[in-house]
Amino acid sequence: QREAAQSYADELEMKAKAELPDYVYGYFAGTAGGGESVQDAAAHWDAVRFRPKAFTNTSEGLTRTSILGTQLRTPVLAAPMAHQNAATPLAEIATARAVRRAGSLLGVSTNTSVPFSQIAAEGAPWWFQVYVMKDRGLSSALVERAAAAEAKALVLTVDTTRLASSELVIDPQLWPETPGKRRLANLLEEDLSGLSEDATRGAEDLTLDIIGELRERSGIEVIVKGILRGDDARRAVDAGAAGVLVSTHGGRRLGKSVTSMQALPEVVQAVGNDCEVYVDSGIRTGDHVAAALAMGARAVFVGRPVMWGLATGGEDGAAAVLERFTEELRLTMAAIGANTIRDITSDMLWRPQATC
Ligand code: FNR
Repeated sequence: QREAAQSYADELEMKAKAELPDYVYGYFAGTAGGGESVQDAAAHWDAVRFRPKAFTNTSEGLTRTSILGTQLRTPVLAAPMAHQNAATPLAEIATARAVRRAGSLLGVSTNTSVPFSQIAAEGAPWWFQVYVMKDRGLSSALVERAAAAEAKALVLTVDTTRLASSELVIDPQLWPETPGKRRLANLLEEDLSGLSEDATRGAEDLTLDIIGELRERSGIEVIVKGILRGDDARRAVDAGAAGVLVSTHGGRRLGKSVTSMQALPEVVQAVGNDCEVYVDSGIRTGDHVAAALAMGARAVFVGRPVMWGLATGGEDGAAAVLERFTEELRLTMAAIGANTIRDITSDMLWRPQATC
């Protein structure tokens, strides 16, 4: 199953590559540095081995779960990604429809081209991803608008204060002239009037106080994304985060970072039951999802495969990716002896002598 599943994500990527303009594919697939972290990411998830449990009832195969109190049919969630309008004209509207069909949850990037109200109208639960900008007032305006449009939580990305390489931005000269071209669709003209271009750049001096400030501004919970160390996770929780998302940003920020599989155990250990832990980067199969859950993640986010689904099949394509990962998870659950998500426990992992 794993071999087949691996080639599924790879095949979808090849199909998307053939269909997308080179500069768009290059942006979506882009990595930082020499891409070492991306190369290792899926391989590390692949290296996990299970200790399947016998004599358990696996007849139901229930993948439903709850994330910060939101009931979902799957722990496979759609990661926030910018420039979805370069994959499909409906952008996050298509993703939101796919997510609703799959019973999942949608991450919406600060750099979305779609107004919050239109995303919310699709009825899928969604979280708003926040890049704190140099002009903090702009960020405040955005999080207030997101909360008013019923975002269920904020995802504060802390790994990206400065873009790692020019390949990770779409060259505006190449960007097709469409109404969806605009990023930051939820900033209004009035927000930007009189401000310099610099105002929307990332704040490079973030401190832990920002967690409480965002919570207060928006009135909704804050999850911190891009955590790769136990001590940072602990500090985020102590500062009021309701969750941490262990992530290398899909290897787009630091070529030689640890993988999220390597970082997950120390984060889980550092926060205990004090907050929910999620993980992304390199999750490509249902086995990977099961491994992450057994290691203590409450849910996983999937990035590029969802983008390849959007690029090749719009809403249907993205729904197929989420549904396929969920179906694979169900098969793995049956094979390891888990009837529900709660049954996927750490004793189902095999550990070599040294801890992982
Ligand atoms: C991203 N990611 C991202 N993260 C974020 O916090 N804000 C953003 O705007 C974006 N934009 C973005 C664009 C594209 C094209 C990609 C591929 C990724 C990172 C994303 O949320 C997630 O962390 C990774 O994509 C997960 O890794 P995989 O599944 O792509 O390997």
